[in-house]
Amino acid sequence: MENIEQNAQNPIPERKKRIFSGIQPTGVFTLGNYLGAIKNWKALQDEYDCIYSIVNMHAITVRQDPAELRKRTLESYALALACGIDPEKSILFIQSHVPAHAEANWVLSCSTQFGELSRMTQFKDKSAKHADNINAGLFTYPVLMAGDILLYQADVVPVGVDQKQHLELARDVAERFNNLYGKTFTVPEPYIASSRGGGKIMSLSDPTKKMSKSDENPKGCVYILDEPNVIIKKFKSAVTDSDMEVAYREGKDGINNLMTIYGAVTGFSMDSIERDFEGKGYGDFKKSVGEAVAEHLAPIRENYSRYLSEKAYLEDCYRKGAEQAERIAQRTIDKMYKKVGFVAR
Ligand code: TRP
Repeated sequence: MENIEQNAQNPIPERKKRIFSGIQPTGVFTLGNYLGAIKNWKALQDEYDCIYSIVNMHAITVRQDPAELRKRTLESYALALACGIDPEKSILFIQSHVPAHAEANWVLSCSTQFGELSRMTQFKDKSAKHADNINAGLFTYPVLMAGDILLYQADVVPVGVDQKQHLELARDVAERFNNLYGKTFTVPEPYIASSRGGGKIMSLSDPTKKMSKSDENPKGCVYILDEPNVIIKKFKSAVTDSDMEVAYREGKDGINNLMTIYGAVTGFSMDSIERDFEGKGYGDFKKSVGEAVAEHLAPIRENYSRYLSEKAYLEDCYRKGAEQAERIAQRTIDKMYKKVGFVAR
């Protein structure tokens, strides 16, 4: 009897849904990058079958110094490990190690319209910013990204607001290809991160702007690898408002941002933060946020230096990651080539 009941409640375990996400190895990671992306990557590992990539092929759509790109790719890989991406649970690989990405890019390019790529706001922004290098790769960037996702038959893709349009395009291309050639790809859904920690992290010196390494004021941007005392100092000088109340409210951009950050690193709800800081000044609050962030990031900093110094281990991880990724991606490429009518070798 007991068994039957249990079976009714626990049918055969379903296949975990698959997640794909990528991060560019450009520059030092900020607290904003971390809270907006990698921290979620770690959290998703138990519930989903996760595939994560350091997308160095996307990076060369803007001019990169080759030695620097190579170094940053390895650093990004080490940092992902340090942030808790577990290579036993998830696949973590470097995009250029899996040739299927370049191959998918071509085939999918032929199923993507010039017009739809022309509408991409990121292309418009980036071509304005890099007017001296509006290369074809910058234009077809979203096709490469669609390939990343579709090659792994991802069900869900965690993306920030700035990548939503690209994910929409990936869905459109997948549906179009499926309609034309028969079911080939899973059509991916966006993963909307919960408000806590998923939200946009703003600059500490101008909370109406996104936290960015190009912030004019160096105190506006916190880096994952900043020393604890540096982090605490940056938070101490965070711009707030002229009221006195630690409360999440419209118009209180600075405090809202600090509360979001504090909630993300401690797990406290906005209500409980408000209660805890009732009657206390902004000075106390900023000190607490700085300390909490410093404490949260300390082990990541330590792990990062350790991974980066263990070259053989790092190599072993990214080789294995590439093999695992390749096995899945190759199956999709074979299917795509067959569907479009390429002769098998
Ligand atoms: N374009 C993404 C960014 O700049 C990175 C990226 C590349 C990505 N391929 C992806 C994100 C696939 C999600 C899924 O943030």
